Amino acid sequence: MVDFLVVGGGIAGLRAAVGLAEAGSVLVVTKESLKESNTAYAQGGIAVAMGGEEDVALHLADTIAAGDGLVNAEAAAVLVEEGPRRVGELLRWGTEFDRHPAEDVAEGGAARAGELMRTMEGAHSLPRILHANGDATGREIVASLLRHLRGLKNVELMEWATTVDLIVRSDEDGVRRVVGATLLDAAGGLIEVRARAVLLASGGAGQVYSETTNPAVTTGDGIAMAYRAGAELMDMEFYQFHPTAFAMDGAPRFLMSEALRGEGAWLVNESGERFMARYHTGMELAPRDVVARAIGREAMEGAVYLDMREAGKGLDIKARFPEISAFLAGYGLELERDRIPVRPAAHYMMGGVRTDVHGRTSLAGLYAAGEAACTGVHGANRLASNSLLEGLVFGARAAQAMIGDEWSVVSGQWSEKSAGVGAGAIEAVNVEAWIGELRRLMWREAGLLRDEAGLRRAKAGLAALRAKGPGLLGLTRRAQARLSAMLATSILNPGLLRLTRRTLEARNLLAVAEAMVQAALGRKESRGAHYRVDFPERDEVARHSVVRRGELRFIA
Ligand code: SIN
Repeated sequence: MVDFLVVGGGIAGLRAAVGLAEAGSVLVVTKESLKESNTAYAQGGIAVAMGGEEDVALHLADTIAAGDGLVNAEAAAVLVEEGPRRVGELLRWGTEFDRHPAEDVAEGGAARAGELMRTMEGAHSLPRILHANGDATGREIVASLLRHLRGLKNVELMEWATTVDLIVRSDEDGVRRVVGATLLDAAGGLIEVRARAVLLASGGAGQVYSETTNPAVTTGDGIAMAYRAGAELMDMEFYQFHPTAFAMDGAPRFLMSEALRGEGAWLVNESGERFMARYHTGMELAPRDVVARAIGREAMEGAVYLDMREAGKGLDIKARFPEISAFLAGYGLELERDRIPVRPAAHYMMGGVRTDVHGRTSLAGLYAAGEAACTGVHGANRLASNSLLEGLVFGARAAQAMIGDEWSVVSGQWSEKSAGVGAGAIEAVNVEAWIGELRRLMWREAGLLRDEAGLRRAKAGLAALRAKGPGLLGLTRRAQARLSAMLATSILNPGLLRLTRRTLEARNLLAVAEAMVQAALGRKESRGAHYRVDFPERDEVARHSVVRRGELRFIA
């Protein structure tokens, strides 16, 4: 038994673990190496208002404006007001954000030597985005948080362990509470971990789409697990598409950071026109949903390019964007010389497990923070570079709530391990092909532009996939009941099904996709990232969608 179980090793999970370690034993589990999370891939940076009250008020206004009427103002105020303190902690713990060198000052710039560099991104009214190693901000933050965490007592980090499901029990008062989780370790053994409180910081679900900037680990595991356990999900139809992912056939959809446009890059179409002038006065730095849809429209006529050639003239591009430059070099391209083909790709989930501003979900004992959670802080469209700040601020808050909330302990057996459940198993269908079908279906029918007919096709397609799902998905009700009982006691019949990380991810992707499509069908308006071609207007009243156990409702 541990006091606190944290699922996920991105910024939210690691920051929460730092706080939790002050109050008890903490186990952080990740299904891959701790180096692999959405956080680690974050390029642009972390938006934060370090310049006092006025600066904070502007950050709040920008966050609310980008969210298209749906931002939870309380959550946004928490984010921008607590952000500077949390970033200050990172600086003390050794995070090396980029700073102005002495030459900048010698060249007559306004900055002082050693001052933090700040860049601009879409829908920000001024440059406030800190970055590290140019475009490797996430990696630097993860590295410094891990260094700090490794120096603390009470914390155990477990890599290569996939969380299968949450363990839910009724306490003496009949209240259902989460009391731990079942993990599948690298050797195929099941481990049951009991905990006083569980935090889901397991990130987003970019893998639900065939076109995504996200790494392979982003399969919505925490969101799906919470849903199966009976927790509420909120705003699942709001999925953000990043406007500029690398667009070459056969190449990954590598992120071409918004910071490139922040430094002046243009978007041009096949005929060299700087087309954003026709879509928004903010041009290339208009809100992300607007830019993504504009590129989507232009891409119907021909290729779209990011053009840094003019803006890059006074800039050491390779130093400012080392990771992007190195990636492009692999395809024989250079930002200084070439136009870079781009198109939108799935990037960030605004929806997730519904929480209050302390990370509490609708299930006792269960907390969520970061991309897996939905406080409503991003509304219908996240302001660029607000997500690292979200993980930091709400990870720290969730830790405080987990420590402070009261617990009635549910008795039972603790931390038991069973061996070799993967061995000798059967596989009903080819899981990779099945996942590929799901991802293409979601991209085609529930992507950037949506309508009733397409969403209905998505729903039917998902139902068909469920019917022919791999092992775990296609179990009869009786077999499912048997499995649940087995998971609860950590004994699993090896012949019953193939329980692998990939099968579990398939099950999670399906659950997330179903909730997304259900909410998208229900929202008959266009708002932020959710664009309904058949309902292009925004409703007068902004409402959040909530899905729980297959039921959809809307709340103010
Ligand atoms: C980017 O660098 O464009 C990504 C930043 C973000 O998604 O907030």
